[in-house]
Amino acid sequence: MSEILVEGLHRLRGEIGIQGSKNAALPMMAAAVLHKGMTVLNNVPRIQDVFCMMGILKSIGCKCSLDGHTLTIDASEISQTQIPREFLTAMRSSVILMGVLLGRCREAQAGYPGGCTIGKRPIDLHLYALKEMGTQIRETDGELYARTEGLKGSEILFSYPSVGATEQAVLAAVLADGATLIQGAAREPEIGNLCRLLNHMGAKISGIESDTLRIKGVNELKDTVYDIPGDRIVAGTYLYAVMAAGGEAVLRGICPAELNRVFQTARQMGAKLEWENLPGASFIKVQINDRPDGIWVKTSPYPGFPTDLQSPLMALMAAGNGNGEIRETVFEERFGTAEELRKLGARIEIQKDRARIHGMYPLRGETVQAADLRGGAALVIAGLAAEGVTKIQNSHHIFRGYEDICGDLQALGARVRYKDLIQRPYTKTGECTRNL
Ligand code: UD1
Repeated sequence: MSEILVEGLHRLRGEIGIQGSKNAALPMMAAAVLHKGMTVLNNVPRIQDVFCMMGILKSIGCKCSLDGHTLTIDASEISQTQIPREFLTAMRSSVILMGVLLGRCREAQAGYPGGCTIGKRPIDLHLYALKEMGTQIRETDGELYARTEGLKGSEILFSYPSVGATEQAVLAAVLADGATLIQGAAREPEIGNLCRLLNHMGAKISGIESDTLRIKGVNELKDTVYDIPGDRIVAGTYLYAVMAAGGEAVLRGICPAELNRVFQTARQMGAKLEWENLPGASFIKVQINDRPDGIWVKTSPYPGFPTDLQSPLMALMAAGNGNGEIRETVFEERFGTAEELRKLGARIEIQKDRARIHGMYPLRGETVQAADLRGGAALVIAGLAAEGVTKIQNSHHIFRGYEDICGDLQALGARVRYKDLIQRPYTKTGECTRNL
């Protein structure tokens, strides 16, 4: 069983670079399939979800090689339009390949997707967009069969700004016949990045970063080299980790503007923050001397507070000072980590979509179970503010999105390690140490 061990109550200090963004990398890898040629992505994080997406791309006929953090995808030949079920259940975002395969091959087959256990996560908006663009979709035994005579530009109006459905619609529209208008689009920075990559490849997308995207279909794309930006969720996780342990740190390689709402929470809780947004040299510096105060926060689509940082923030407030409250409005079952935090002594009451947190310091080290990616990272944060040793079992969930959480926190002086090195599948520069 994969396990992370955290010895708490050591202040952090130091400087680290932030890995490339998972949520930017995955749709960009899907975008490469639209092009009958080569796409090179730099700063790709060596995380399980990326290896899973590589597995899917290979299974449909692409050639992929990851050298350090540079991923080369050659999608000259596509031999298969079925997304294998084992990948779909492992990673929900693989469903965006449907629009890509329809654009490229006019057919796609996929099961209902999996991912973290954080609520129902339907794909109705994805299917709505594909249907509007001229796709017939049939469902048999949980398997979706999609076919089109050729995708057509269309008007799509989303009733909710879903990140995945917006990406699906953008990817499908790039090679469609005519113009597509997407209204009610999600505005997460990762969508802006996807659109910028696609424009580099020759797509014609305007309205980037707004909720209205206009896409003029093109016949073909071209070879491209593109840099993946730093991961704002990983940066937010480490920001809260420093606040949980106390101390000061510099986090490099992210775009500070993407973390506006997160910075606001950190300041409200008592942290001092400085940042610089210099091309190629951006950083944030966090410093905190007292226990962080409890605050009131509501998760919502970007530019609101990200649901992916809800569990890490809950862990931080649990080890803080005074009372706080979090309202989760994006995923209905995302409070699962509260139960594990309680094992560490946290005082958290859940009522429907609200978690009331009464700060308690220090927490006490115990054995806990990671149940999902961000929830697992939250337990590491709690462990930093707990007396004794916290054992986080099932830590493989964390490897879906964090390249080397222990290595990064060790570089800041944390006493945190993988119980057994072989359990961490991907080394920063080396190869995958186990087959997935
Ligand atoms: C993406 C991110 C994930 C983040 C989430 C919200 C990736 C790979 N993942 O996930 O880390 O937590 O955005 O910021 O980028 N919904 C529907 N119908 C649909 C699609 C979504 O009702 O067809 C609902 C979902 O159930 C959920 C909400 O919309 O309640 C948000 O989901 P969505 O924005 O689609 O998240 P993902 O793209 O899955």
